[in-house]
Amino acid sequence: MKKSALGQTGLWVSVLGFGAMHLNDKRTSEDDACRLLNQVLDAGINLIDTARGYGLSEERIGRHIAHRRGEYVLSTKVGYGIPEYADWSYGGIVAGVEAACQRMRTDVIDIVHLHSCPLQVLAQGDVVRALEDCQASGKLRVAAYSGDNAELRWAIDSGRFGSVQTSVSVCDQFNLTQHLPQAQTRNVGVIAKRPLAGAIWRFVDRPADYAEGLYWDRFRAMGLDPQGLEWDELALRFSAFAPGVASAIVGTRKPANFQRNLDIVNRGPLDEATQALITRTFSACDDDWSSII
Ligand SMILES: NC(=O)c1ccc[n+]([C@@H]2O[C@H](COP(=O)([O-])OP(=O)(O)OC[C@H]3O[C@@H](n4cnc5c(N)ncnc54)[C@H](OP(=O)(O)O)[C@@H]3O)[C@@H](O)[C@H]2O)c1
Repeated sequence: MKKSALGQTGLWVSVLGFGAMHLNDKRTSEDDACRLLNQVLDAGINLIDTARGYGLSEERIGRHIAHRRGEYVLSTKVGYGIPEYADWSYGGIVAGVEAACQRMRTDVIDIVHLHSCPLQVLAQGDVVRALEDCQASGKLRVAAYSGDNAELRWAIDSGRFGSVQTSVSVCDQFNLTQHLPQAQTRNVGVIAKRPLAGAIWRFVDRPADYAEGLYWDRFRAMGLDPQGLEWDELALRFSAFAPGVASAIVGTRKPANFQRNLDIVNRGPLDEATQALITRTFSACDDDWSSII
């Protein structure tokens, strides 16, 4: 699996990363979680992304692959959910990083994001300082921001973050024109979240989930022609190789879908005409379609 530089962080990440959010799902047994995480590493995927908010996910990463810690770039997100501290406080960030280290059985986390931190909190400064202090004390390697729109822009422009994580997909192209060029100029690494737009083509009815519902609306409005490709192939080859994206962290609970995504990414970028069609179709329908958190 090809690896890309994550901005100037010194980290190199596989073009396909693993979004571990769905490890939260209790339908996935411990044995299945163990098999899937080890399958991911065996395939040469080296970026594993999780968050405090993904329930069992961090703990399962610690339990099942901490013994292979040298093989992966570990990415998580903090800012909330530490009982002794207010959300988005200096102490909550420091304690959140420590708690994540413990859950994932590691001394240092490679990338720690502020998880959808509101703009006024970012600007106030305490949480960014807390992340930098954790970096200075060796608990994390890269201070990062995860989110979209005005907050994302603030994070890129601030020069305080080595990388960002934001939405990029056929149904979510705002960042490609509005923010990723600036990230590239400032050498900020970019991880693409929701790179399949939640595989929205699977749903006959509009999903109740907020983001999936919006993607469903957009997907239908776009009426995109898949050019003879399967939807997953079209979607993943578009987002994984979008300009400025270092890695696309697809989420799945299913070994077969993981293997399929691996095969797809190994086919490389879409041809230029297909990429241009996807971009043109989004622009033609764009009804103030900002990026979806
Ligand atoms: N920072 C944030 O606020 C934030 C927000 C959302 C997501 N994320 C990160 O981004 C990652 C991915 O996001 P996501 O899971 O919401 O969206 P996604 O990767 O765009 O789509 C994942 C969905 O697609 C399905 N899928 C995967 N491969 C498939 C394939 N080849 N064919 C058909 N369906 C396929 C999965 O279901 P199956 O399990 O059935 O395969 C899953 O439901 C998360 O795990 C997380 O790490 C971050």
